[in-house]
Amino acid sequence: MRFARMRLKNWRNFVDVDVEIGDRLFITGPNAAGKSNFLDAFRFLRDIAKDGGGLQQAVKDRGGLSKIRCLAARRHPDVEIEVTLTDQASTDPWRYGIGLRQEQRGARRLLLGYERVWRSDKLLLSRPDRDDREDDQRMTQTHLEQIASNKKFRSIADTFSRTLYLHLVPQLLRYPGLANRDAAGEDPFGLKFLERVMTTPDKTRKARLRKIAQALKVAVPEFESLADTRDERGMPHLEAMYRHWRYNASRQREDQFSDGTLRLIGLLWSLLDGDSLLLLEEPELSLHSSIVARLPALIWRLQRARQRQVILSSHSADLFNDPGIRDDEVALLLPKGSEGTTVQLAREREDVRHLLEAGMTMAEAVLPMTAPQESGRLGLVK
Ligand SMILES: Nc1ncnc2c1ncn2[C@@H]1O[C@H](COP(=O)(O)OP(=O)(O)OP(=O)(O)O)[C@@H](O)[C@H]1O
Ligand SMILES: [Mg+2]
Repeated sequence: MRFARMRLKNWRNFVDVDVEIGDRLFITGPNAAGKSNFLDAFRFLRDIAKDGGGLQQAVKDRGGLSKIRCLAARRHPDVEIEVTLTDQASTDPWRYGIGLRQEQRGARRLLLGYERVWRSDKLLLSRPDRDDREDDQRMTQTHLEQIASNKKFRSIADTFSRTLYLHLVPQLLRYPGLANRDAAGEDPFGLKFLERVMTTPDKTRKARLRKIAQALKVAVPEFESLADTRDERGMPHLEAMYRHWRYNASRQREDQFSDGTLRLIGLLWSLLDGDSLLLLEEPELSLHSSIVARLPALIWRLQRARQRQVILSSHSADLFNDPGIRDDEVALLLPKGSEGTTVQLAREREDVRHLLEAGMTMAEAVLPMTAPQESGRLGLVK
């Protein structure tokens, strides 16, 4: 299943947005426009649906509903999320929607305002139902998170729960002691990345590492090959061989890899690992501009083979210069004060369409719109 549309109301800095999503979506916008917040809506659904997850924990992990609810929201409206999903095997789309609110008095419980599931236009679930009205404590949990209640739409819960988010921080991978390795939940910064690699069955792991090595040979000068090893204490490591000015090629472990090498390995591994929605934060970080320019094509090739959907945030002109990026694959986020941030596909904007028709690249057409008006004054800061 893939996500075809995301509607958000009062979610962080979005008052009311509705975004169509294809196989790839490139999100761009100024700093603090809400790119990460947009990606977080998918992670939120994942956190509700995942094993051991649930609504209350997902909200708690984000500091409570008051942190999630848009500051620009009018009086007391719910935070609402609605996604449309399509299934390759069928033409009937699924739709899942929830509204969240906090009790104004008393225990100030976080409650569902509603929870609804549709298949095509048929309503499969509509809460609150009679049971919920008799016992409103039931509204503290979604049916999505309960195996006993989500039988009719389990495939939605499965799709949500398998969403993968990556924002690899090379320093953490290199020095795992810096962070709390026991933190529950996702591993966005790649702390347990090496363990994930090493627990992958032998044949798959070696095949993936071979593919990654092919890409590294192109991207990293003198790089020769990549292998997995364990040290004396059984700890997993990646080992690269570099052509060296000495006769024998020299070996390096991941703590000696460059930031860009580590990020590229993490990015490629994630693309090869699974077929669920992949969320990538600024994949261009630490990479040479000539590599960044090839990322959209690389992502396209790898995701297509796995029927995988990818949503990524980026500020990179090199990335948006790729002529293969279509105008329905770029979402432009622009903060509009008390209206919150608006989201428009490049295709929906006449000005962008004109620029593209006039022969400009997506980077030339879209990125100037995301630059802060007064960025020139940064040079004057003393
Ligand atoms: N509940 C909320 N209501 C309104 N605004 C919010 C809310 N929660 C967070 N924000 C705002 O969202 C902004 C951060 O958004 P986000 O991190 O998604 O930006 P971004 O586009 O990813 O930026 P960058 O390019 O710097 O990574 C902050 O300015 C923060 O004040
Ligand atoms: Mg961000």
